[in-house]
This record gives sequence, C-alpha cells and structure tokens, in this order.
Amino acid sequence: MMIKISPSMLSCDFSKIGEEAEKIAQAGADMLHLDVMDGHFVPNITFGAPVIKSIRNRSDIVFDVHLMISDPLKYAEAFIKAGADILTFHVESDSDVKVTIDKIRSLSCKVGLSVKPNTPVEEVFPYLDVIDMVLIMTVEPGFGGQSFMSGMTEKISLLKKKLLETGKTVDIQVDGGINEETVAVAAQAGANVFVAGSAVFGAESYKEAISLLRRNAEICCL
Ligand code: DX5
Ligand code: ZN
Repeated sequence: MMIKISPSMLSCDFSKIGEEAEKIAQAGADMLHLDVMDGHFVPNITFGAPVIKSIRNRSDIVFDVHLMISDPLKYAEAFIKAGADILTFHVESDSDVKVTIDKIRSLSCKVGLSVKPNTPVEEVFPYLDVIDMVLIMTVEPGFGGQSFMSGMTEKISLLKKKLLETGKTVDIQVDGGINEETVAVAAQAGANVFVAGSAVFGAESYKEAISLLRRNAEICCL
C-alpha cells in the first residue's frame, strides 16, 4: 500500500489556517487532516464545515476530514459540500454505521471508519467491503500533542492480517502521537497513512518533517 502523510491542522496557527494549508500542500503532504470536534463526542471544540469550505479555496490537496462528532449522519452532507474528499467518522458515534457509510458513498465521497483506543478493531470488520480507510486512533481523541499508545500496534496488525486474508484494499490510518520514531512502529505493524500534528507543525521545516516521516515509514515497508 502507498505511504501517505496527512498533517493535522489541529496544531497549526488558526489565525492563518488558509496559508498554513497551502504551505503544507507545498511541503509535499499527500493529504490534509482536518479534525472536527463537537464538544460532545470529545471534550474539545474545533471548527466546522464553513471553515473547511474557506480553506478549500486555497488548495487542491486531498481533504482528509476526521469527524469526532456524535451525529456524523446529520452533518455528512455539509462536510462533503464543504470539500471533504474522504470523510472519516467513529464507529462509537450515535449514528447508524451502515446508513452513514451509504450516505457518504451516495455523495461520491470516500469513507473512513475510526475506532478509539478502547474499541476492538473487529468492530470495523463487517464494513471492510464498503469503506476506503480504517482509522485506528493511537491516542484518546480530543487533543494534539499526546503520546502514541504502543498497545495499538496489535490492532493494526490484526486488521492488516484480516485485509491480507480477504484480499481487500483498505488504507490503514493511524492518528495520535505519530513522530519520526512511532511512524516506523506503526508502519511495521501495517499502517500506511500517517496523521501527524505536532511532529509537523512543531518542526522548523514542514518539508523536512514530512520527508522524514515518509522515509521512516518507507524503510519498514521495503
Ligand atoms: C486528536 C486528533 C489528531 C491530532 C494529532 O484527537 O484526531 O489528529 O491532531 O495530533 P498529534 O500528532 O500531535 O498527536
Ligand atoms: Zn484526527
């Protein structure tokens, strides 16, 4: 599977989010990870569809929208209209999983399904034929800058094994505490899409930070 780096805008300077998005695209990222939090599904509030829509005017990069909201079914269409290319929601949300997947697909958008650290990865298995990506959270969702939970590698390996056995091509994304070291651990276990917030935005050069993550992920997959 192709390695993809998706910097999380959660760690950028929100007063210039459009410029930051352009800089990330120019720095060689494959996707832009946009964390939407509603203060209910997670104990933090970020931004919604209108903000994503205005960033959309600044770049053509793939918008990887991560919904940490209680009712993704209700808002899916608004996020797709705002410019999401792949819309990821949580299996733990209040919306019906299959109905939400169908809704997103019917609007010609890619679908990701996510599990929080305490949720078994087996919960996504029934949907592997109808989704494009599984997001395995490697921290409790809600905040950037937390440490990678190494116990999550088992979930990554289990999913990778299932995908190989069944011959399905679904991306495995990891999000939370990804840095130049943990990216290799996650890649070794089978992940191929890496979200990184503080590791990219905390670096002096976005370009170097993205290249380093890519290089360290690739070494494991040769
Ligand atoms: C956390 C978000 C992440 C976060 C990652 O709930 O889903 O995308 O921005 O930030 P880092 O890479 O700093 O852990
Ligand atoms: Zn995220």
